[in-house]
Order: sequence, then C-alpha cells, then structure tokens
Amino acid sequence: MTTTSLGSASPSADGLALAGHVAVVTGASSGIGRATALRLAADGATVLALGRDQARLDALGKEATGPGTLVALRLDLTDDAAVADLVAEVTARHGRVDHLVHSAGTYAGARMDAASLADLDAQYLANVRAPYALTQRLLPALRVAGADSGADIVIVNSTQGVRAGAGTGQFAATQHAMRAFADSLRQEINADGIRVATIHLGRTATPRQETIYAREGREYAPALLIQADDVADLVDYLIRLPPTAEITELHLRPAKKSY
Ligand SMILES: NC(=O)c1ccc[n+]([C@@H]2O[C@H](COP(=O)([O-])OP(=O)(O)OC[C@H]3O[C@@H](n4cnc5c(N)ncnc54)[C@H](OP(=O)(O)O)[C@@H]3O)[C@@H](O)[C@H]2O)c1
Repeated sequence: MTTTSLGSASPSADGLALAGHVAVVTGASSGIGRATALRLAADGATVLALGRDQARLDALGKEATGPGTLVALRLDLTDDAAVADLVAEVTARHGRVDHLVHSAGTYAGARMDAASLADLDAQYLANVRAPYALTQRLLPALRVAGADSGADIVIVNSTQGVRAGAGTGQFAATQHAMRAFADSLRQEINADGIRVATIHLGRTATPRQETIYAREGREYAPALLIQADDVADLVDYLIRLPPTAEITELHLRPAKKSY
C-alpha cells in the first residue's frame, strides 16, 4: 500500500471485506486510531487517516502495506474551516463515507482543587465539540453509504464515560457527553442505515497511556494492558457485522491487571 493523494473508491467487491468502502479515522497518527487505520486499509478500504503530527503521519503512510489505500491527512479537528474543507473534498472525491471512527482526543487528569479551566475547555473542544462537528458535517456522506450497503460510526470512549474516578472529572465529563451523543444520534439515524457504536476502553498501551503512567510515577508495563491492535480488531468486527445487527456499546478492559 502507498500513501497517495485522494482517489475515488467505487463500491465493488473484489474479495476483500472492505473493498470499495471509504473510512474516515481520526487520531490516526497515534495509538488506537493508528492501529485502526492500518487495519481497515489492510481490509481493502480507502482510509482517510487524520492527525496533526506530520512526522507521525508520514511514518503511518510508510508502514501501510496491503491492498487498500491509506491517505494520511493533517488537520486540527478543532479548526472548523479545516474540517469544512476536508468534508467538501471527501464528498466531492468519494461521494460517500462508509465508516467514521472517532479516536482523536486529549486527556488532562487533575483533582478539582488543582484542575484548570483551560484544560477543561481544551478537552471539551477536542473530545466533544470536534467529533460532534465532524459527524454533523459527514452525515450526508454517511447517509449515501447507509442507503447503499450500510454505514457505521464508531466512537472510542473510555471506562470513564461510564463511571468517573477521582482525578478525572474533566475528562470523564467529556466521555459521558460522548456517550449521550452516541445514544441520541443512534435513534436519529438508524433508520438511514447508519449504526452507532461506543467502545468503553480500559487502559490501553498507547503513547497517551505511557505518559499517564509516567505522571503517576508508576512502571509502565504495556504487555499487561489492552493492545491498540485489540481495539482495531473490535472496530473491524463491529463494522463487518451484517447490516441486520447492531452492537451499540462494548466494554473492553485489560484481562491482566497492572494496578
Ligand atoms: N489509551 C488508553 O488507555 C485509552 C483508554 C480509554 C479511552 N481511550 C480513548 O481512545 C482514544 C485514542 O486514545 P490513544 O491512547 O490512542 O491516544 P493518543 O495516543 O494520545 O492519540 C491521540 C490522537 O488524537 C489526535 N488528536 C488530539 N487532538 C486533536 C485535534 N485537535 N485535532 C486532530 N487530532 C487530534 C492526536 O493527533 P496528533 O498526535 O497528531 O496531534 C493523536 O492522533 C481517545 O479518545 C481516548 O480517550 C484511550
């Protein structure tokens, strides 16, 4: 597989599960989004892999091998104009989006005594407003695929989106918001052939988690955590379900424990 400029994808099957499908994956420059973008491209999809860090996006393009197409695109999802341009280009080139995977986001942990309002605002913008705005703009393209073979929105959420722990109030609030967003949207767009799934994740071995362990002053043991590829497997499974079935919510946690 090569990193290419945007090209057209037609919904013709050639034996690969996702041949002819167009997928948009956010957070694709790191961790879970990265593993998911590579997986969907390996399944034959045209993957628009979004991130901000140009060096890591370049590395992603080089790592991609296989029959699909991975297009690494740099943009800040909190920039409304950049998102509008992206959606216009995707719509003009492809006319459809079959799978939208939200994995971008940011994390700042602190107890309320020490937490800053600047961190609260930054997490709201990146974790709630950005995925909301991107989804809203992509709905017409998702509806095109939904009316054809079905479409999916997968939201990578956290266990903190179900039960908030001490020191995570700001982040957990954004994850609760995304759970509500998913549950409401599902009822609005299931009739258009679009499924909405939330994955509530426990600690997963990614650059973010390594940073969190360092801040906590604890030894990082990635082998004891969920692997980014485990989550990519799950996303792959969700979107390959027959269109008659929908998984709405999944909870994934490390089988071994490091704490
Ligand atoms: N890792 C875990 O233990 C864990 C547990 C529960 C839930 N989750 C959730 O899983 C998702 C992925 O986590 P991860 O561990 O893979 O995170 P990560 O390694 O920190 O990667 C985060 C990604 O989000 C992108 N991003 C952040 N802000 C952005 C913005 N404004 N515009 C565009 N892209 C932006 C980053 O892009 P750049 O790096 O290019 O800036 C990066 O690709 C997150 O939503 C997280 O809450 C993770």
